[in-house]
Amino acid sequence: MKFFIDTCNLDQIKEAMDMGVLDGVTTNPSLAAKETMPYRKLLEEICKIVPGPVSAEVISTEHKAMIAESDELIKIADNIVIKIPTIAEGLKAVKTLADRKIPVNSTLVFSASQALLVAKAGAAYVSPFIGRLDDISTSGMELIEQIVTIYANYQFKTEVLVASVRHPMHVVESALIGADVCTMPLSVIHQLIKHPLTDIGLEKFLSDYKNSQANK
Ligand code: G3P
Repeated sequence: MKFFIDTCNLDQIKEAMDMGVLDGVTTNPSLAAKETMPYRKLLEEICKIVPGPVSAEVISTEHKAMIAESDELIKIADNIVIKIPTIAEGLKAVKTLADRKIPVNSTLVFSASQALLVAKAGAAYVSPFIGRLDDISTSGMELIEQIVTIYANYQFKTEVLVASVRHPMHVVESALIGADVCTMPLSVIHQLIKHPLTDIGLEKFLSDYKNSQANK
């Protein structure tokens, strides 16, 4: 499973990159709003740090305007993926961009029917927001199972990119189901490596070593 980081924060992206597990980045206008640099400049900097796919979201909601915006975004770097909201106008944009061989990440997906449509239109990635479904007492994980099954049934090439990931079990369960990608905040990457028994064990190894050396 590929690991993407879900942020526009350059320091966090560099840190995840240094950990050696980062395959790509997802961004959105809300994440960009947390930073001081303009969105386009952030995307330029992110693409210099990460060679893998970097999702850049359009803010237009009409087909022609989405395409015009995408045309500008793809000039940033070769690894830009265009993030398009899953609405009827967005579906048309996915088809147009896919026909031009421009990779699209269909975002704000909350149902299997939306996932089926964006795959048919040719999206490279589908982004189901599982944490936001959990927030309204609906199983985000069940949606991932449904999408993975549907895509396997029809051999769709669209990659399942699990988004709105809030904790390590979201990542582990996505991997068990066979999702292609998980995008997560840096805090979740840190949580994935943490185990109290590792910390206790390491502390004991180090103190045993120190004590044994003192007695020699
Ligand atoms: O990738 C989508 C993600 O940014 C949404 O996450 O936590 O705002 O639901 P969240």
